[in-house]
Amino acid sequence: MTKSIIKGIGHYVPEQVVTNDDLARLMTTSDEWITERTGIKERHFRQNRTDSEEATAYLGFRAAEKALANAGLGAKDIDYIVFATLSPDYYFPGCGVILQNLLGCDTIGALDVRNQCSGFIYALSVANAFIKSGVYRNILVVGAEIHSFGLDFSDEGRGVSVIFGDGAGAVVLSATEEVASGDILAVNMHSEGKYAEELSVKFPGTKLGWSDRLLDDPKAIGRKDLYPYMNGNYVFKHAVSRFPETMKEALEKAGKTVEDLDMFIPHQANLRISQFVQQHFGLPDHKVFNNIQKYGNTTAASIPLALSEAIEQGKVKRGDLVLLSAFGSGFTWGSVLFEY
Ligand code: COA
Repeated sequence: MTKSIIKGIGHYVPEQVVTNDDLARLMTTSDEWITERTGIKERHFRQNRTDSEEATAYLGFRAAEKALANAGLGAKDIDYIVFATLSPDYYFPGCGVILQNLLGCDTIGALDVRNQCSGFIYALSVANAFIKSGVYRNILVVGAEIHSFGLDFSDEGRGVSVIFGDGAGAVVLSATEEVASGDILAVNMHSEGKYAEELSVKFPGTKLGWSDRLLDDPKAIGRKDLYPYMNGNYVFKHAVSRFPETMKEALEKAGKTVEDLDMFIPHQANLRISQFVQQHFGLPDHKVFNNIQKYGNTTAASIPLALSEAIEQGKVKRGDLVLLSAFGSGFTWGSVLFEY
């Protein structure tokens, strides 16, 4: 039977580090407030905001290069790309095709996934289905975001802007028939669209177009709908109930228990959410990996960025049972349980 294994992994973040104190110079906030509510101490922002070279697909490209090297594969070995992001280079086309070109892959398929914080879970699940059904053998799965260009750094936006950071992570998911290697054991994906507006960017969008033609209206400039809106308390409450549900579902489907887990890597939304979930399941510290303290919430990039660091630090080893779970805008949520 064909198995899906994570053959290679890598991550990339722009060099510029922005601390909570740096943000406090732009808006009324403090290191104490941000640390207490979110656990975040710093995040990375792309250096030069006008440098179009360092756009989202480029970040994904840098992470993908590392994942390919780690897998011992070249760009021509890749059969398909799945790229998850909410901050694409262009409104269209998506980042997948840009990555195909940057890497110099053959004219392979490139799919973009728009499921925000759950984006990487959805992307990995799609890739797993293609591998298991024998359609492709090596798929590049990428999560990348540049949030720094689209945040409201005034006091009005402070409840959202202090949370997010830029970054990218990538994995090469490969088919194998070897019995001894790992596998993706269970996936699940969920959505509840009635909460779509609780965490959203509403403009530009066809629903909220207030003029027949997109930019005819002079009010388009300076419109706050261009920035993310988040009902923070609401998101928090839903996250802490959906995380345990999706985690249990994945474990039960694979016939595993929480005790069997070697590592749980939650989407890095907020350290307080991760700690709540950890406590709920009684997981010891060494079985949960968080790096939101250094990177903030990097949305679709957060899970591969955390998994990549956990592997780099020797905290996830071949053969380990690892659970990845996410919750976010949509609302969407889901999990991938795998043996590394
Ligand atoms: N610095 C200082 N004060 C801030 C602030 C900031 N960056 N942002 C908001 N505040 C203020 C508010 O204005 C409010 O002041 P008031 O009481 O005078 O009105 C007060 O802090 C509390 O605001 P509130 O929004 O209720 O804070 P909170 O305790 O809910 O924390 C979040 C806000 C965003 C940290 C929290 O709701 C959260 O983490 N939610 C989940 C977000 C998430 O995970 N998003 C990612 C999606 S996956």
